[in-house]
Amino acid sequence: MTGPQQLRGARFAGIGYYVPDVVLTNADFEKTLDTTDEWIVSRTGIRERRIARPDQATSDLAIEATNRALADAGLTPKDIDIILVATATPDMPFPSTACLIQHRIGATQAAAFDITAACSGFIYGVTIAQSLIVSGKARRILVLGVETLSRIMDYEDRATCVLFGDGAGAVVMEACEPGDGVLGSYLRSDGSFAELLYLPGGGSRRPLTEERLRNREQYVKMKGDGLFKYAVKAMVGAAMEVLREAGLTTADIDFVVPHQANIRIIDGVLSRLHVPPEKSIINIDRIGNTSSASIPIALGEAKEKGLIKRGDRILMVAFGGGLTWGALLLKY
Ligand code: UT7
Repeated sequence: MTGPQQLRGARFAGIGYYVPDVVLTNADFEKTLDTTDEWIVSRTGIRERRIARPDQATSDLAIEATNRALADAGLTPKDIDIILVATATPDMPFPSTACLIQHRIGATQAAAFDITAACSGFIYGVTIAQSLIVSGKARRILVLGVETLSRIMDYEDRATCVLFGDGAGAVVMEACEPGDGVLGSYLRSDGSFAELLYLPGGGSRRPLTEERLRNREQYVKMKGDGLFKYAVKAMVGAAMEVLREAGLTTADIDFVVPHQANIRIIDGVLSRLHVPPEKSIINIDRIGNTSSASIPIALGEAKEKGLIKRGDRILMVAFGGGLTWGALLLKY
């Protein structure tokens, strides 16, 4: 956590995002699944989502977002000390997607690594980056939340495939005066609920065999109602905790960027925090749940639309598989 005693802070110098061009609508799903636009919209708020082209991997989406974030910050790849990628859908198990990006953008001065914290990945990533900047280990860190979830969706499972989409969000963080930038963060996990949202096959526990492929273990499994029960409580709790640690209340917050998993979860979080809808952003209707990319994409859209400005206090809050959850408080 930052505090007045610290010698420096860590701010967002640039924001960028990218979503693929291919749109998959609820009407498209009506043709192949026992589902309806009415069910999907009323239960989730999702109308359409973006899907990566077959030739686009996670690093490709990430590079598009990176170029935009670097341009926004007025920096070049050689200015970056560390590349940190939060993703559950890397190009391959290793090397890290961050290393692939490092090479392709020519970030010749950068260390690079991935982290996995599912939908909370961006909040986790920014917290790690902030610590590295505040400790003096790095001056500028590129933090990405990026997913190609379409590659791990079972398009025969109506309970999951209608929910998720692909996309990338990036921020360039840099050292700043203390009291500016990240004001606090709160991270938690509970692995006892790991099987509420997981991908069983393909790791060291259950390497893929023909039988496991037949059983569709290469795809995401989710118990949505189990997750739903915890989501609002965990997100509100994290938000309250990060505010309490900073000595602030929701009345001091200019804008809230919630993880976009379900419109009903977002509405529940905002109403319990007494935040009016005009102080927040919804994009789940257009891009679905993009997991770790959801918060930086929504933040990028908020900037583009003029909903946030320099100096605003922004609260970001996430919840996802793991379970993981957390909140981040930023003076933008
Ligand atoms: O990103 C972070 C982690 N993710 C979340 O936090 C997601 C949290 N969960 C949710 O958003 C909701 O639980 C869902 C949107 C996933 C599901 O909504 P729900 O109101 O909890 O529905 P349900 O899972 O209880 O299912 C209700 C019914 C079931 O039918 P029966 O068993 O009652 O006959 C499902 O089979 O809806 C059925 N159903 C569908 N029907 C039409 C599930 N998916 C669909 C579908 N179309 N696509």
